[in-house]
Amino acid sequence: MENVLLEKQGHVSIITINREKALNALSTAVLNDLEEAVNTVEADKDTYCVVITGAGNKSFVAGADIAEMKDKTVEEAAEYGAYGNKIFRQIETLHCPVIAAVNGFALGGGCELSMACDIRIAAENAVFGQPEVGLGITPGFGGTQRLARLVPAGIAKEMIFTARNIKADKALAIGLVNAVVPQEELMATALKMANGICKNAPIAVAQSKKAINAGLQTDMDSAIAIEVKDFSDCFATEDQTYGMECFVNKVKEKEFKN
Ligand code: HXC
Repeated sequence: MENVLLEKQGHVSIITINREKALNALSTAVLNDLEEAVNTVEADKDTYCVVITGAGNKSFVAGADIAEMKDKTVEEAAEYGAYGNKIFRQIETLHCPVIAAVNGFALGGGCELSMACDIRIAAENAVFGQPEVGLGITPGFGGTQRLARLVPAGIAKEMIFTARNIKADKALAIGLVNAVVPQEELMATALKMANGICKNAPIAVAQSKKAINAGLQTDMDSAIAIEVKDFSDCFATEDQTYGMECFVNKVKEKEFKN
């Protein structure tokens, strides 16, 4: 893959959008490679956490490729939107947590890619925004839906209607990102969090992600039923036996197997 790099460090897979000359804009070629990387990670149950970032130190992803998009017909635009959304939803529902390490511009499709991740860590130079209405379109890779679920609806509407970008400190203040760190500490911070997640029982982490995602889409009674099922299913795992044995036997250094 030319436009997306995929590497593995221990149980952490790192996906890097690698089109620095266009600020990592999502052309179809980039989306094709991202899809391949996500498919690879999805099939790799030895991956317990994923970090997604952009190449260089200026941009995470500056959006969908405007030059490529500008002449699309209604049908082609629908196909393109559905394709990006399919990949982003696949990221959102991966078996393990996904951390976005946002190293600069996260605009349009870039902000949307970061929002398809479970956790966002931003460098101090990160800039978030949904500038689409300034281009005559709506957000198209999930922005109208995920932004309003992540931050108060009024803030999401303000960002989308005004098309104004926000800096990292504002993104932190509205809850769009989990943390803001100096650019040079970004990957180390994301990897430290990823490795911390990897130390916990992978099936329990996966079940927690599944329960949170499914619960967010339904009413509270159904959501609680989902939790009861995902919680109790853990009692069929070696990790549950081992994790609780470690507690009662006062074993501090645990190493989960699954
Ligand atoms: C295509 C892009 C691009 C993009 C940057 N580039 N963003 N190409 N699509 N989204 C290219 C530029 O054309 C330029 O190429 C090179 O990257 C460097 O960009 P500059 O503009 O020269 O850099 P700078 O002046 O620092 O400005 C950075 C920027 C600006 C503020 C991020 O590039 C910008 O506004 N980009 C567009 C952001 C945007 O509107 N994103 C939303 C897209 S719509 P050359 O060849 O000239 O060097 C979207 C919809 C998603 O994402 C849903 C679709 C279904």
